[in-house]
Amino acid sequence: MKSLLALCALQVTQHQASACRALASLPRELYPALFRAAFMNGRTAVLQALVQTWPFPCLSFRQLLPQPNQMGWPEKPSKESVQAVILALLAAPRRKPHLRVLDITGFLDASCGQDPTTMSMWARSVVVARTCLSAQTQARAAQRLAKRRKLERHVLVPTPVEVHTDLLVNRTSYNVLKEALLTSICGPLRLRCRDLWAEELSGPSTVSLLELLDPACLRQVDLRFNNLGLSGLCMVVPHMAKFTHLLSLKLQYSNVDVRRLTSEAESSFQRFVSAIGQLKCLKELNMGSSRLSGRLHQLLGGLQGPLESLELPFCALLSGDLSYLAQSPHATHLKKLDLSGNKLSGDLLDPFQKLLKEASASLLCLDITECQLMDVHLASTLPTLCSCIHLRYLGLYGNPVASAGLKTLLQHLQALPELQLVVHPVPVDCYKNLPWPPSSASLLEGSVDEEKLAGVQSELQQLIQAIERRDVLWTMDIYGHNSFDYFSL
Ligand SMILES: *[C@@H]1O[C@H](CO)[C@@H](O)[C@H](O)[C@H]1NC(C)=O
Repeated sequence: MKSLLALCALQVTQHQASACRALASLPRELYPALFRAAFMNGRTAVLQALVQTWPFPCLSFRQLLPQPNQMGWPEKPSKESVQAVILALLAAPRRKPHLRVLDITGFLDASCGQDPTTMSMWARSVVVARTCLSAQTQARAAQRLAKRRKLERHVLVPTPVEVHTDLLVNRTSYNVLKEALLTSICGPLRLRCRDLWAEELSGPSTVSLLELLDPACLRQVDLRFNNLGLSGLCMVVPHMAKFTHLLSLKLQYSNVDVRRLTSEAESSFQRFVSAIGQLKCLKELNMGSSRLSGRLHQLLGGLQGPLESLELPFCALLSGDLSYLAQSPHATHLKKLDLSGNKLSGDLLDPFQKLLKEASASLLCLDITECQLMDVHLASTLPTLCSCIHLRYLGLYGNPVASAGLKTLLQHLQALPELQLVVHPVPVDCYKNLPWPPSSASLLEGSVDEEKLAGVQSELQQLIQAIERRDVLWTMDIYGHNSFDYFSL
């Protein structure tokens, strides 16, 4: 339900021209409500006027706008709203410039990737970069003009505005981003990057970007599909040591394989290990799709503190890796653990259960998608799983579990009070002609008996009703729900 203030703000911003005229006579306490109303309803002229006369030092999306998963969130904000706020920074010098920091970080990042009416993180990064460059051009032009008119003494150098932003960059946007970061070092708009996501960038390009980022602001580096290999990572990661607030490093699909290393590659691995050991406050590490068999103790043993989020999907882990992890200082601090795509059913089962036991007091999210777990393995894991009393998310998709196993699981997990989401597999008894034991591919691509599946699903729903846990979402949809991002836990 909207507050009276919100309803009034909606009315005021409806008529843009009169709202803009009225701003000067409105008390500044009304600015946040007006901003929310204008932003959510795409009143771009009012938005620009609000930003240009913003009466406070900081304008932060996270503080002003409702979170996407918050109840009462009307609709997604339009591309135009986001753009209007950023472009407002280019307006003619403001009369009373109070604004020092525009913070547009952490806003609808996960959910607006595919929707063309909203602005993707990639597009937003480009708009921010272009605005930064234009602001510099404008400032230079103003200076030249003043010089020509011999007004030099009267030219006020505008106080720079810091723009706190997350940046997603790929090869298409690399040049404009780099230009903007260079310009922002002494230009009128100063980019402060919080999370950097770089897709398919080469090692040298990544290093160039890292060198231009403010060391005090960076929180996460996510290098994906960069294919850097160990030697590339050795070139890049040492440049991260200066980021004293770097909490999260994600290096999925980096083409790392530490099995059977040549002596040259072995020394690369050692350099990589010592480079991540330099990251003083690292709390999250993702090494997805790196083949780490038998070397996890070396990789994690050199870290300065315990990790709270560890993502090792498709890492070809061995039982020794999980045994190490279970007795390492990381185990008791883990809030998020992703072991998807590692075969947990064989000799990894025992150390996996030990690890789960160690992590039981802290664990909030467990992803064990495609781990070849059958009913029997789940049954023996259930007591430990049920001791993870804060568990919110369980990812079980792509495991060869039967509907009987799922029902047992459901009945046990009702004891977990904080559980919100379980992504479960299609039960093996709902496939037509599934080979046994089934491969991951046959589980993902095998033909499903839809009628039988519908029957099982309705039985599951009845069970959920019977145990009164309709607050938990049991789904087979691996996309389309909030991902449990480490920073939001
Ligand atoms: C970079 O990302 C944008 C937006 O997703 C896309 O249109 C473009 O093709 C990408 N460039 C490359 C080189 O992949």
